Amino acid sequence: MKKELLQRIDIIDKSLDKYLEIRDNPQRIIYEAMRYSVFAGGKRLRPILMWETAVMCGGAWETVEPFACAIEMIHTYSLIHDDLPAMDNDDLRRGMPTNHIKFGEDIAILAGDALLTKAFEVVSLNKFADASRAVRAINVFAAAAGADGMVGGQTVDLAAEGKDIELTDLQYIHLLKTGALIRAACVIGAITAGAAEQEITAVDDFARYLGIAFQIRDDILDVTGSEAELGKPVGSDAESEKNTYVKLCGIEKSEELVSVYSDKAKAALDIFGERAEFLKRLTDYLVIRNN
Ligand code: IPE
Ligand code: IPE
Ligand code: MG
Ligand code: MG
Ligand code: MG
Repeated sequence: MKKELLQRIDIIDKSLDKYLEIRDNPQRIIYEAMRYSVFAGGKRLRPILMWETAVMCGGAWETVEPFACAIEMIHTYSLIHDDLPAMDNDDLRRGMPTNHIKFGEDIAILAGDALLTKAFEVVSLNKFADASRAVRAINVFAAAAGADGMVGGQTVDLAAEGKDIELTDLQYIHLLKTGALIRAACVIGAITAGAAEQEITAVDDFARYLGIAFQIRDDILDVTGSEAELGKPVGSDAESEKNTYVKLCGIEKSEELVSVYSDKAKAALDIFGERAEFLKRLTDYLVIRNN
């Protein structure tokens, strides 16, 4: 799996590099700050999910390339802002000092803003074989990033710091802050590949469960992981008095839930038969990941 992922990362990074070319103008620093976080590393999970979902639905890398790069830009922007002192206040990300530690808070905020807007520039710039699919995909993309998607989840996550909340509230946070972009990645892969509505729904179910499993694992790794492997600090959630699965359910139950949701995710792909093989293996791989 590792090797297959690295091959895909290589192709994704070449496209990102093209879209994030440095301009030698007075604001050059903003390009440097954007590139710093994008190319600091990262699993490229969302582009890979989009790509592989497209392939499962009869598409290819070319079908999703601009959207795949754009979703990684939005994800990276969310991480830059997530790490700011006003939010999670972390100083390490993807194995490097966080954007605000390297460039200052002012540039880090602007680098996030610029990645967010660059994402929409990229998806609207390209000539699509099917413009109506592209417009639908852009709508899914925008909704997932915004106030009823990732930003909404981050808002509720911050509001819940230091409070006792119910598991259903935590599930709501996870569904939005992490689930929204993972769902959008998969659904856009399906839409741009011309999948049938029933297939798009199955892909959405898959991604919803995968997103939950992924964030529970992230919560576990914040306690049991190593900084060297994670490339981000451990214990950050406890320090910020975050509500996490580990806090609400304990490690053991959380591990069990990762398996439960991963199984649900894989089952949602059964209608694709053998074509779902890669995504099912990727799901298994993410359950046991250490970073
Ligand atoms: C980290 O996402 C933030 C969460 C939503 C849990 P990833 O674990 O995908 O981070 P990178 O992209 O590999 O750095
Ligand atoms: C953040 O969740 C999800 C985002 C939208 C960035 P976390 O705050 O748990 O992510 P990490 O652990 O810092 O990567
Ligand atoms: Mg956070
Ligand atoms: Mg964080
Ligand atoms: Mg976390």
